[in-house]
Formats: sequence, C-alpha cells, structure tokens
Amino acid sequence: MSESPAPFISAPGKAFLIGEYGALHGFSALVTAIDVRAHAGHAKSPIRDESAVVRCVRDAVAEHLGLESRAALGPAPVVDTRRFSLGLRKLGLGSSAAVAACVAAYHLQRAKPELSLTGLRETALSIAFHGHRAAQGGRGSGADVVSSTLGGTIRFASIDAVTPVRHPKWLHIGFVDAGKPASTTSFVKAVEARRLEDRATIDRVIAHFGHCSDQFQAAFRPLAGDETAAGQYTAIDEAVSAHNSGLRRLQKLIDRPIMTDSIERIIAFAARFGLAAKPSGAGGGDLVVVFSPDRASLDQFAVELFRERRIPLLQNLAVAAPGLRVERRPPLSSRLSGFFKLDIAARRAAVSRVTALDAESFTSIDTGALGLESADNLIENVVGTHELPFAIATNFVINGRDFLVPMVVEEASVVAAASNAAKMIRAGGGFIAHADPPWMIAQIQLARRGDEGFPAREAAERIERERDALLDRADRAHPRLVARGGGSRGLEVRVLADDMLVVHAIVDCRDAMGANLINTIAEELAPHIESITGWTAGLRILSNLADRRCSHVIARVPPKALRSNLCSDSWSPEDVVDRVVAASRFAELDPYRAATHNKGIMNGVDAVILATGNDWRAIEAAAHAYAARSGRYAPLAVWRKADDGWLEGRMSMPTAVGMVGGATKVHPAARLALDLLDCRSAAELGEVIVAAGLASNLAALRALATEGIQRGHMSLHARSIAMGAGATGDELETLTAQLISSGEIKHDRAVALLRALRAGSGAINTPE
Ligand code: MEV
Repeated sequence: MSESPAPFISAPGKAFLIGEYGALHGFSALVTAIDVRAHAGHAKSPIRDESAVVRCVRDAVAEHLGLESRAALGPAPVVDTRRFSLGLRKLGLGSSAAVAACVAAYHLQRAKPELSLTGLRETALSIAFHGHRAAQGGRGSGADVVSSTLGGTIRFASIDAVTPVRHPKWLHIGFVDAGKPASTTSFVKAVEARRLEDRATIDRVIAHFGHCSDQFQAAFRPLAGDETAAGQYTAIDEAVSAHNSGLRRLQKLIDRPIMTDSIERIIAFAARFGLAAKPSGAGGGDLVVVFSPDRASLDQFAVELFRERRIPLLQNLAVAAPGLRVERRPPLSSRLSGFFKLDIAARRAAVSRVTALDAESFTSIDTGALGLESADNLIENVVGTHELPFAIATNFVINGRDFLVPMVVEEASVVAAASNAAKMIRAGGGFIAHADPPWMIAQIQLARRGDEGFPAREAAERIERERDALLDRADRAHPRLVARGGGSRGLEVRVLADDMLVVHAIVDCRDAMGANLINTIAEELAPHIESITGWTAGLRILSNLADRRCSHVIARVPPKALRSNLCSDSWSPEDVVDRVVAASRFAELDPYRAATHNKGIMNGVDAVILATGNDWRAIEAAAHAYAARSGRYAPLAVWRKADDGWLEGRMSMPTAVGMVGGATKVHPAARLALDLLDCRSAAELGEVIVAAGLASNLAALRALATEGIQRGHMSLHARSIAMGAGATGDELETLTAQLISSGEIKHDRAVALLRALRAGSGAINTPE
C-alpha cells in the first residue's frame, strides 16, 4: 500500500440532549457533539488504547479497503482520550465512539489522502459505525458515532435518518457529573430482556420517549418573530419533565437504578432555579444535562450547587463542537522530559515543537522586548524597565488537558518545584478544577449625614425595591459586555452602621478582569442610589475580595508518586502522606504557619499572574482576605489522606483575572504567556492559576515534611553554578553532584572541578 505521511485526527465526544432510549427503536433523539476530543495519530503519546473498538474498527477499515486483515494496515494509531476523564474516571461522553471515528479516519486518510474533509467524514462514518457496533456486540443505535464524526447537533432516528440541527443561541446547556460511571450496555440489555416478557408495556414507554423528544425538538430552534426565550423554554421544560417521568417508569419496569438518588437530587436542585434537567444517556450515574433560557440562571444554579453540595458544573464542555478533523499536530503534552537540562534556545525549540507557536514568538521575551516606549505608555514617570526571568513549568494536566505553564518569578526552585509536584499529581490523573462564573463586585458606599434621607433599614429596603431598575442601568452602561454574555447579576445592600450602607452590584465580566468596567458601573449607579435613599454616595469602586469569582482545584496523589526524587529512603510513601497531612493540620491550627503555607501557594499563583500580565496586587489582596474570611487566618489549601490511602489536596481562592485588556494586551511577554496557555476563557486561566498554587504548596510541604527545603534548594543552586561555570550535557549532572558533595558551591570551585572533569581526572578534591 502506498501511504502518505501519517496524519493526526481528532473527533469530539457526544451528549444526548433528549430521546436516548427511543433512538434504539427508531424514534428520534437529539445529540450534540462535545468539544472534548479523542486523538489518533502516529506520534508518541502517553496513553495507548488498543481496545476492542480499535481492533474492530481496523477490521472494518481493512474490509473497506479490500485488504486481507487489519495487519495490512500497519500499526494501530496511538489513541489519546485523556480529555474524557475527570481525574482517573472517564465521563460518559462517548469516548469509544470518538475513538472509532478517529481511528477509521486515521487509516482512511493514510490510504486515501486525496479525500476531502466531507468525503473523509462520510466514509469514516460508515466504517466507524460498523466497527463500533461489532465491538459492542451488535448493540447501540450509532447516534454517538454519527455525532463524533459529523459534529454539531443532530436529530438522529437511525443511521440512515440523520439531520443536522441548528443550535438555538437562546438555550444554555450545562452538564453536571452525577458521580459514578454507568454502563449503558447493561441498561439496554435489561430493557431488551424486559421487552421479551412484556413487549406492549415497554413499547409504550419507548413511544413516550419519542413523543417527548419530538416536543423538545419542536422548541429547539431559533426564536421567531416576537417569541421569547422564556416562552419557548416552557415547552423544553415540559418535555424534559415528561421524559424524566418515563425514565422513572422504565426504572421500575426493569428494576435498575436509572434515576439514581444523586441524579434526582440534581434535577430537584435545578428545579429550584426554574431549570430543567435530565440524565444525558442511559442514566444510572454519570452526566446530567441542565437547560436554561439564560446564562445568568445557569450560572446561579452552578454557584449554589457547588456552595451547597460541592458538585461543580462541568463548564468546559462546549456543545455543537466540530466533527472529526485532521489536526496539524498531536495534542500538547506538557511532559517535556529533560526540559530543565536544555539550554534556552533548545527549550524554546522544544516548546515550539509541541505547541502552535513558532520559534519567532519567543523574541517577545528577549531582553528589552517591552521597550522603553511601551513602558512609558503603561505607567507614569518611566525611566527604564525591570526584567525578571520568564520560565515554563511542565507536567501540568488540568481536567484532562495538558498545559505548559508560564511563570515569571525571581526565586530559585519555584518553577522546578511546581513542575515536580505537577508530575506527582499527573500520576493521579491530574488536577480537577472548576471556576465560578466571572462575577465581580462593585461597591457603592453611602453615608447618612445627620437626619437626611431615610433611616438605614428603610433606605436599604428602598434600594432593594429598585433592584431591577438599577441593574438595568448597569447593563445600559456596558452594552458590549451584555452582548458578550456578561452583565449585571445581582444587587445586595449591607447595613454597616446606622449611618453607613454599602451596595454591591454583582457583574459578570466574562473574559475581562473587570476593574474598569466595574468602577464605571459603580459611578453610574451612585447618583441614582443617592436619589432613592437621600443619602450621600462615598467610594465607588470594585471590591478586591472577589469571593464570587473563585477557582477551585483538587489534586489526588498516589503515595508512590510522592517518593520520587527524595534523596533518602527514610520515609515510606505512606509516611510522606501522613507527614504532608500533618503539615496541613499545622497550618490549619496556627496562623503563623498558615501565612508561610499560603506564601508557598502564592509562589505559584503570582508567577502565573505576572507572566500573563494580570494584577498581582489584586490577587494577593483577595487571597489573604479570603484566607481570613472565617475571622481567623487559615490556609488556602488543605491536604487529607483519602479512604484509598491517596493524598488529596483541595484549594479554593478568588481569581479575578482577565485575558483581555490592560497589560495582558500591551505587554509582549503577557501575550506570549497567554498564547502558550491557550485558555478558552478567563475562567480556565483561573483554573490554571489555582493548579499552579496547589502544586507549589504540595512541593513545599513534601520537602518540608521530609528532607527539608534546603536540600532541594542547594542542588538547584549547585546546578546553576555548574551551568555558570560552563558545564553542558552530561557534565552538568556530574559537576552538580561533585559540587554538592564538596560542600563548597562556588563559582571558582565549579570552574576547577570542570577543568578536572574535562581533563579526565574527575577528582572531587582538585586543589585550586
Ligand atoms: C518559600 O518561598 C516558600 C515556603 O516557605 C512555603 C512553605 O513553607 O510552605 C517553602
């Protein structure tokens, strides 16, 4: 077979919106592609999937190409499905269908490089469909394979009756993880078995799903004429509720837990916010899909769900994603082994090899790249610029996605420690993070002079009665923000004293940090609040205690991974877990320790904030105010031993950061940092920031609780002295070790040792 160079193919996951059980019996379902992607390609990748799906799809490709067996196709591609996982647990987003789609397309593309994307998708679809079905023992509707191949949102009745559907902009969709994996096949089998006993009853329930799905689909379209989202939403709500009743009936009939307690609780919780929710897929655990007629209600639901139940909305799951496609490069791997040993040019080359950045982009972090003129435009009275090292921390996996994390910091060992801890956390599936919606607080202070205006309580009530009008005014001050999906979200009045009130306007800033727009809103609202109350407005400014805009992160570390790189065997992996937990308790009990514990966290946080051109004073102010919110200064991150013996760390902190405006736009290094991270939103940037903070904390606690911090510092110091003396390649390791054991980590000593090394003696005690 003549072959073109092997391509990389990616395909999205899928989620059912409605009609899943009906689709197995010829009724139509609505399925949307989710932008978590499986990748298939030839390059080395950390996860190799040679599952039954890969084998069966390869058999189907071979048959399609008229080959004798799959062996004639050459080796199976490496398949990467990390993005379908939360930690080590796969979410029910149809990873096997995505694998089927991209493995079929991978081989097809190699055999027939002339195929257009449409041709590739069409041919891959029929091959993937048959291969996937064979792997599933002839079960399944194939809706998932179609969705992964074609992308977008589709109406699916059978493989021969697929219609693309436009996704209505007014309908907002979120997903919640109901906590445990579910086996679709076992539910489907149970329905089949019951149908053999009582066909009429099962068919009635299935037809009911078909009817609910039709009702839902009739409302799932752009608004026409004077239709409103709220009006249209009623039909969605009714269809979902009827679908859920059908699922409860089916559950009784097959005696299987389709609507588990946790699913029912999430559905009931959504109903409190007027939102419809249902299992996505067969039920039994896994995903719940939530529908909302507006962004604000979905966000409010997400905030309260996390506050009350500690269950996050999986906000990184974008719907109606593109179908399978050819990629220019494999998914980024942040596992750049030996990166620290390279020189700067080689590090730049390594990073541009694994990212979409060309080597030229790094000139924006060359000495003097900011330039005096730009500096002069940034602040006042400029007389020069001040440089700091710009580095990249490796090994970060956050929500199944790899990140190279840019860090700007002057302190040695911060970057190495974060990379090292990220590697340990990677062994446990990586960081699991989520962020609150980007809500900031505008504060308007009001003072009562003498008897003017209404008494405090009455004044507060009057403001609350005018809530909607005031929020309307806030939105009118920023129409572009509203158009981008942001805008006012709430109003609160706090009585601080008989003669002092403060009004909080809560505003969704989307991808901006928001300081300017929040301040404008505060200034806009102040005169109106004055006239409502008869009080006098004082300060009008954002609050840096951005506690409505926190990012939250969890890291789970297998004990074995904690032992790596420790210089002595004095501690078993279990000892290290216990010692880190004890170190955490120390910080929880003692504010003197908590301050240092949090300083270690801010080593990672501030380094990313600085690199991305964000306001590190704002982050610092927020972090420490948040750490003291209970009235006692506490650690931002805590560590516990989980039931399975793994070390588990959790951290939440305000992350008021932006990806647009301010220095993020002007500073060339900040642009590069943001390009490197390639975050899809400011919320995702917040997740990276807390992950960097938690990694720094783990590195510090592990070192402090075992061999002490100085040892690691000393070896890094020795390394940089060795490099300064001119050691390269293997010499570097040897000379570093020699310097440490000589007990004299100095430049002159390093030069002499290196000379001896090169002369072949390698003697440690070379006289100077
Ligand atoms: C040093 O920059 C940070 C540490 O003091 C943090 C800690 O003690 O947890 C090592």
